[in-house]
Amino acid sequence: MNKRNKSFIYAMAIGLMIVVIFLGFLSSFTNPVSWLLITGLLLIPFFYKKSEQSNIIKWKDEYSVGITHIDQDHKKLINLLNQFTTAYDHAMSEDFEKKALEELVDYTVYHFKREEKLMQENDYPDFVVHQAKHQEMITQVSMFVDLYNEKGHDALKDISEYLSVWLINHINGTDKEYSQYLNDRGVN
Ligand SMILES: [Fe+2]
Ligand SMILES: [Fe+2]
Repeated sequence: MNKRNKSFIYAMAIGLMIVVIFLGFLSSFTNPVSWLLITGLLLIPFFYKKSEQSNIIKWKDEYSVGITHIDQDHKKLINLLNQFTTAYDHAMSEDFEKKALEELVDYTVYHFKREEKLMQENDYPDFVVHQAKHQEMITQVSMFVDLYNEKGHDALKDISEYLSVWLINHINGTDKEYSQYLNDRGVN
């Protein structure tokens, strides 16, 4: 559900609760349902804020692969993904959404090439397997982009979740596998 729909549902729920609270107090000021609903009403901003933040990824030091420029790339990818997620969740204009997706895809391709060059230059033994994982992601994202160009906003329902899971698993798993090898060869 996008944020615009979610905000609408929250607003409807708040409106409904206020009406029920008011009607409850008309019958009796000690009506427990009204007091219970007032408590619920006070908790709504807390839950709303929590759900707003849940799709945003924050960089953690544990994601570091021990190579400064690769960490910088990964931080930038997380920022671009958050930018796209925000554009998508808030159902911003199609132009903005498309630009955010293109920026994310372009930087991902750029980063993969940079990483692959580094692995190749250092004869990393699992280079082919790692490159295949990059290629798999590019293929999947290209499918999403084609679908988006064809069907627009609704076609992207799963993309931000797919990208978030893939990116963090890749950074925190597959990419970390080369850390020790490259660090031992003086790449930091
Ligand atoms: Fe990476
Ligand atoms: Fe990688």
